[in-house]
Amino acid sequence: MTDIVGILERELGAAAIVGPGHERHDDYGRDESPLPEFYPPACAVLVESTEQAAAVLRICLEHEVPVTPRGAGSGMCGGCLPVSGGVVLSTERMQKILEIDPADLVAVVQPGVITGVLQTEVEAQGLFYPPDPASLEFCSIGGNAATNAGGPRAFKYGVTREYILGLEVALMGGEVLRCGRRTAKGVTGYDLVAGFVGTEGTFGVITELVVRLVPKPPAAATVLGVFRDVAAAGAAITMLLRDGLRPRVLELADKSSIDHIRAKSRYRFPAEAGAIVLIEVDGEPESMEMMMEKIGLRCDELGAIDVLAATEPAERRAVWEARRLISPSLKEAYRIKVNEDICVPRGKIVEMLARVEAVSSETKIETAVFGHAGDGNLHVNFLSNEDPADPAVQKHMWAAAARVFEHTVALGGTLSGEHGIGTTKRDYVHLEQSERVIEWQRKWKAMWDPRGLLNPGKKLPARTKPCSE
Ligand code: MLT
Ligand code: ZN
Repeated sequence: MTDIVGILERELGAAAIVGPGHERHDDYGRDESPLPEFYPPACAVLVESTEQAAAVLRICLEHEVPVTPRGAGSGMCGGCLPVSGGVVLSTERMQKILEIDPADLVAVVQPGVITGVLQTEVEAQGLFYPPDPASLEFCSIGGNAATNAGGPRAFKYGVTREYILGLEVALMGGEVLRCGRRTAKGVTGYDLVAGFVGTEGTFGVITELVVRLVPKPPAAATVLGVFRDVAAAGAAITMLLRDGLRPRVLELADKSSIDHIRAKSRYRFPAEAGAIVLIEVDGEPESMEMMMEKIGLRCDELGAIDVLAATEPAERRAVWEARRLISPSLKEAYRIKVNEDICVPRGKIVEMLARVEAVSSETKIETAVFGHAGDGNLHVNFLSNEDPADPAVQKHMWAAAARVFEHTVALGGTLSGEHGIGTTKRDYVHLEQSERVIEWQRKWKAMWDPRGLLNPGKKLPARTKPCSE
């Protein structure tokens, strides 16, 4: 048997290796997904440069060892778990912001840069990096690109893909490829950058990124519409969308989500809130004020029982801290949290919310729903305090998730709006995509990784029958 740990240690030095017995070794067998299993790797390699990343990929191909790329480990679908064993290639030490260029409106960064740190740094120069996954204080930009992460501001500004202009990628076998551009526009050749973004580390390992920036909006303010229940809040979102107003954020949280953050949050949510719609606007102060007024009036007309404005930075920070606490608070309160991130066409939000409620009462599983409702992207959480190690319990939870996936697809939606497929959702991809579509994706994957060693067991369903060709 190949001593891959020893080989990597000799080539890269012991300081790069987290092997069995190391206090952090177990960390690389887990992420933020709801999987009860733990997948310890042979070792994790904490690379510090593109050359080191390429060396790991060369050595692992030579010895036929699977490699699982990992950013900050904040993913929710098991995308960075070494489910087939082998080596975890972590980019967490590649934390340099190499360049921020206000003239070109770009930043060049290493993949381990924490997204929130990049945002603070560019904002200090009057610039703005809009994608804001809820985990922005601890997730990394390389992981965001690998999963094509979203976030609340995607409503106005779009998701990570819209902000990645160029990439350096290390391929299985050790070749390093630079693709994309630094210009605002560019259509030379096929769009390989778009091809790598969102492939969850199954095509290559991102080792450097050219990120598009925009000017920082001069001001922002947050409005909270308080509704009696989630159906009323969902209906208000549908109407606000029809009005053509363009806030930068249009979020929803149901009563269960709010109740789980009440005690911890510095922001005091109204006691009578059965659901909230969180709206944020940005722009020039005058136009923003007008927009806030319009939105406030419209929420009143749409049945809000209260409308609150947060204009002071400290107050807005408190609202957002509270919003970002929803997911961790649910995780703390329950032994099992199967958190999905379905996305439906915007016109189907109200119907989808009703169907989630129906699945909850059919299965008798508690749910909490929150998220980026303006994009039709709902975080549907199935919650339980039963034993996570009990296969019957897991089966019941995932059967409920599968029902929600079926409803989602029936309404013209997609299984994952932003978290990815990873390993937790790969068995459900066939609900949304035809076998032919899946087969073409397998061919695409095989082009980059013919031996199937890079992040195996992710993104696409396992082949159950031989390929028809
Ligand atoms: C969020 O928007 O808070 C996350 O994407 C969802 C989650 O953590 O479940
Ligand atoms: Zn989200």
